[in-house]
Amino acid sequence: MNVTLRGGRRHHRTVTFDPMANAVVLIEQRLLPHEFRLVRTQDYRETAEAITTMVVRGAGAIGATAAFGLAQGARAFRGTRLDRFEAHLERVYQTLKHARPTAVDPVNAMNEVRKAMALGETVAERQDLAFAAASRFAEEDIEHCRAIGEHGAPLIREGMRVLTHCNAGWLAFVDIGTATAPIYAAQAAGRKFHVYCDETRPRCQGASLTAWELAQQGVSHQVIADSAAGFLMSRGEIDLVIVGSDRVLGRTGEVANKIGTYTKAVLAHRHGIPFYVAIPLSTIDWELGSGLEIPIEDRSGDEVLGAWGTLPGKGDKPGRRAYVRIANPGSTARNPGFDVTPPELITGIITPHGILKPKALGKLRGKG
Ligand code: MRU
Repeated sequence: MNVTLRGGRRHHRTVTFDPMANAVVLIEQRLLPHEFRLVRTQDYRETAEAITTMVVRGAGAIGATAAFGLAQGARAFRGTRLDRFEAHLERVYQTLKHARPTAVDPVNAMNEVRKAMALGETVAERQDLAFAAASRFAEEDIEHCRAIGEHGAPLIREGMRVLTHCNAGWLAFVDIGTATAPIYAAQAAGRKFHVYCDETRPRCQGASLTAWELAQQGVSHQVIADSAAGFLMSRGEIDLVIVGSDRVLGRTGEVANKIGTYTKAVLAHRHGIPFYVAIPLSTIDWELGSGLEIPIEDRSGDEVLGAWGTLPGKGDKPGRRAYVRIANPGSTARNPGFDVTPPELITGIITPHGILKPKALGKLRGKG
C-alpha cells in the first residue's frame, strides 16, 4: 500500500526478497506507528527470529516470510549433493515452522515451495525453483486479498459502522490485507463509512497497526477499548464485523484468530450483527478435525502486565521504544494469544472465491 513519510508517498510491501543479497526485507512492525523502518534478515535463522519476535506478524505476512526464508536457506547451501541439500532444507523448514505455532500459513506456504522444488533434478535447479515458488506465493497472497476485496466490498454500505479486531490489514499480508480488503474496495467505490478498531490488548495491533494503516489510506476510523464493543453494539452503533484469521479448519469451519475475537463473535450474535471472517486460501487447514487441536500460542505474561510504547522524541525524531509496567509488581499473568470461534457464530467466510458459510469451505479444496 502507499505510505506517506516526511511528505513523500511510496508504495511498500510488508515482505519482499532481495535475491542479490539473499536477504528477506521486512517492515519493522514493532516500531509502528512511531517509526517506519525496513530491516533485512541475513540468513534463515534471522528470518525465523524476526517471525518469533514479531518484527513481522500476521498470518499471510509470516507465510510469505517463511516461504522466502526457506528459499533463503536453500540458496545459502553450498555443494551439489542432493541428500545433504535435503537434510539442510529440512532443518531450515523446521526452524521456520516452529517460529510461531498458531497461523497455518507458514506451513502451507513452505509446503508449496517444497512441492515446486521437488521438480528440480539438481541442487542449483531446486534453489532457483525455491525462489520462484516463494515469489509466486507472495504474488498469490496479493491476488487473494484483491479478490477478497471484490467479494467483500458490497457488504459495506454507505454510512455503515464496521468493527475490526487486531490487524488483518496489509501489514498482516504482503499487501492490501484481508479484513481491510473490503474496506479499501468500498472506499475506492466512493462509499463513506466508519471503522472502529479494537485496540487489541495486550499487544495493541488494532490501536497501533490498523489505526495507522487506515489513517494512511484516509479511512474514517476510531480506536476503541476492547471492552467497549458490547456497549456500542447494544446502542446500535456497529453494523458489521469483519476480522481476519490465523487458521480456519476446512473440515469444521472453526476460526482461530487474535484473542478477543470469540468474545466479539458472541456479542455480535447476541445483537444480530453480521460477523464475517476474511481469509486467503493459505489460511485453511485441511488436516485438523477439531478447534481443540489448534496449537494456541502461549505468550509472555509481560505483555499483559505492562505495555510497549514510544517515549516523546525531539522534533520529528521518534523517541526510544520503552516498556512500562502497569500491573501490581508481584502479580503474574496468563496470556493465550489466540482463541477459536465456532462456525455457528460466523455469518460468512470471505474468500478469494466468494463468500461461503464456514461449513461449506470443503468446496475450496484443491483450488489455487
Ligand atoms: O499475533 P499476530 O499479530 O501475528 O496475530 C495475527 C493477527 O493480527 C490476527 O490474529 C489477525 O486478525 C489475523 S492475521 C491475518
